Amino acid sequence: MVQKMNIEKVIALAKRTGIIFPSFEIYGGVSGFYDYGPIGKKIKEKIIQSWKKFFLDENIFEIETSLIMPQIVLKASGHVDSFVDPLTQCKKCKKFFRADQLIEEKLGVFVEGLSIEDLSKIIKENNLRCPECNGELSEVRLFNLMFKTQIGPLEKDVGYLRPETAQGIFLNFKNVYRAMRAKLPFGVAQIGKSFRNEISPRKWLIRLREFSQMEIEFFFNPKEKKFEKFEEVKDIEIPIYLAKEQEKKSEKIVKIKASEAVKKGIILNEYLAYFLAKEFVWIKSLGIPEEAIRFREIRKEELPHYSKQNFDLEIKFDFGWKEVVGNAYRGDHDLKAHSKFSKKDLTIFENEKILPHVVEPSFGIERLFYAILLYSYREGKDRGWEWLDLPEQLSPYDFAVFPLMKKDGLREKALEIFNFLKQKGFSVYFDDSGSIGKRYARMDEIGVKYCITIDYQTLEDNTVTIRDRNTREQKRIKIEDIEKI
Ligand code: ATP
Ligand code: GLY
Repeated sequence: MVQKMNIEKVIALAKRTGIIFPSFEIYGGVSGFYDYGPIGKKIKEKIIQSWKKFFLDENIFEIETSLIMPQIVLKASGHVDSFVDPLTQCKKCKKFFRADQLIEEKLGVFVEGLSIEDLSKIIKENNLRCPECNGELSEVRLFNLMFKTQIGPLEKDVGYLRPETAQGIFLNFKNVYRAMRAKLPFGVAQIGKSFRNEISPRKWLIRLREFSQMEIEFFFNPKEKKFEKFEEVKDIEIPIYLAKEQEKKSEKIVKIKASEAVKKGIILNEYLAYFLAKEFVWIKSLGIPEEAIRFREIRKEELPHYSKQNFDLEIKFDFGWKEVVGNAYRGDHDLKAHSKFSKKDLTIFENEKILPHVVEPSFGIERLFYAILLYSYREGKDRGWEWLDLPEQLSPYDFAVFPLMKKDGLREKALEIFNFLKQKGFSVYFDDSGSIGKRYARMDEIGVKYCITIDYQTLEDNTVTIRDRNTREQKRIKIEDIEKI
């Protein structure tokens, strides 16, 4: 069951405990920017680690490319001309709004893909007014979402902050292919920041101007319909929200085996189906309930400029469903475009000349972070404090270590155990201040699964107590058995 959720409490907890802070806060903040605090940074790293473990294999290579790109790259990719949102402005209070979102929210109709003339007409005909001050709204115009800068001293040398990590991958496709002696099919992954000058950032971590993506471009020969690894996931049933159901305004979800979905032509190829099935399994492992996950087939008129088919993995949030992972079958759009603009041949030769096709899963870390916090948040009425029921793999620390008292050698013994665990490769938190109950409460609040307490008995027989966050039960175990947990 999707619980009734109170995001305000989650946001307050995240700030208080060092998970997420509003950026530039002492100067009043700027919407669309958030910072990770010490605990948030740890959880983010755990998300990334888990993702790498689950998705990267011997045929997927991770790279890290430049954040700033010269104009020609984004001209070739289509972002300079097409990466736009429709904008309307209140004539009275001068605030800006995304016209499509405003219409969708007020009238409950889908308008993505409509022209700016049509959007202006809808606003006029329905007498839609400014949500802030009820003022009159302007005609709709297009606004490019990329942050523009210049590279070097000359204004004519235009550059942009990358709007997706993907382009750095396409530019290095042939470098990776050669350097890693790769063979199709293979993937290139990138994790890092992307930047979009969103018109109305909102909903905490959902729509940011600077955010983190984990993307894979998976290259394959379009003539090769069979993907060996697809066998591993073919029987996984995935929940799909078909375009035709959306058109009927029905909420019906079909649960279908990945192999059936390909056979019936619902998913265009095994490569894309492979990632959808894996995503479903992974997202569930992060504590998101099955019934709060669906793959929305993107309707033709909504497709991004580069895509042949898209499925958004959506999660049900407190405010409704929202995309967290975009999955696109980009075909050869990007390699073709970069070949044309750079005049470099990006084909490869494997028995024949091939310009590979690509499928792309694109994960937004902050949206995922929001969902994870939302679904792990517990009010904790029974224990008297809030806590996070994070899956063990996302616990910001593997262990917290507490001396019962600072005196009588307990602190020294606790530090010894802290260092022992650190050297074993665990991430460990040390705290020797305040009552032990308060220390447990603080660890519960940030979702640490295991707390280890060093007491007088430890000095006698080298045992410690280990407390489980969920059951709050404590067991006495030998120090050398801690790592087995
Ligand atoms: P939306 O329609 O909600 O603006 P999008 O279709 O523009 O999203 P994509 O371009 O598919 O999103 O980006 C891939 C992923 O990157 C998204 O699924 C999301 O998780 C993340 N993402 C995109 N834009 C933002 C943003 N402004 N803030 C936070 N995450 C984002
Ligand atoms: N690379 C897909 C996206 O960010 O839109």
